[in-house]
Formats: sequence, C-alpha cells, structure tokens
Amino acid sequence: MAGSITFSMIKPDAYSAGNSGAILKMIEEAGFTIKAMKLTKLTPEVAGKFYEVHKERPFYGELCAYMSSAPIIALVLQKANAVEEFRKLIGATDPTKAADGTIRKIFAKSIEANAVHGSDSDENAAIEAGFFFSQFERV
Ligand code: TYD
Repeated sequence: MAGSITFSMIKPDAYSAGNSGAILKMIEEAGFTIKAMKLTKLTPEVAGKFYEVHKERPFYGELCAYMSSAPIIALVLQKANAVEEFRKLIGATDPTKAADGTIRKIFAKSIEANAVHGSDSDENAAIEAGFFFSQFERV
C-alpha cells in the first residue's frame, strides 16, 4: 500500500556539514519513498511564516535566523503511517534526549540545529507540503 505522507526538511546545520546524502540514505533505508524534493534557501520572513505556530515562543527569532542561515532540502515522504514513523526515525527534538540510532541523535548539533524537521500531524504534513511544493513538483 502506498501509505500517507509527511513533510521533512534537512536543516541548515545538516546541509552545511555535508550530511544530506547520509540522511537521505537513512530515510530511504527506513522505507520512505521520496515524492518531492527541493534545495532552497529560506528568507527569515519565509522561515517566520513556516514556524508561525511558534511565534510567541522565546526561541522564535533565533529559530527563524537559523533556518535562513544556509540552504535546506524540503521533502515530501511517503510510507504507511508516515508522520508517526518519521518522528520515530528522527528522534526527540533535543538530540541529548533522542534515542540511539535516530537521525537527530547521529547528526543534530543542538536543540535548535537539530538536523531535520518532521511534521507532527497528517493535517500539518499536508499544509507544510503545500507551503513548499505545487502539484507539478510532486509525483
Ligand atoms: P517543536 O515543534 O517543539 O519540535 P519538533 O521539531 O521536534 O517538532 O519545535 C520546532 C523547532 O523549534 C525545533 O525543531 C527546534 C526549535 N526549538 C528550539 O530552537 N528551542 C526549543 O526550546 C524548542 C522546543 C524548539
């Protein structure tokens, strides 16, 4: 069965460290199919819009500056139960709390520079995928 989708980003720290290929390999080996992929660099304004739900949080300004500091790779990924399965693969937000073998445990530098994004619900996955990709950029 084709499964559901989630939205992911390889974040600036992981891209800049040259870890994009290794992370994509882990994603594919975990059984996800890449349905859309784009290398881009966010402006602080676009990062601010993407993370608008965190607007009132103390880390919002820093997060937007960080997310626009270097390129990112945006991804739509498909698997059965994609959102939950991908959150398991990436591990906890704070890499010191992430389980062994997870992407964040292996590649994240800090709670902010935590290597990858993964949607937290099917609804947000659809919104986030639509934020980055038109219907012609997805297979
Ligand atoms: P959040 O949605 O809580 O985590 P997740 O990415 O695991 O769904 O937070 C979004 C991003 O905000 C998180 O990936 C990194 C950043 N962030 C901080 O910089 N500091 C913090 O204290 C928290 C909670 C998040």
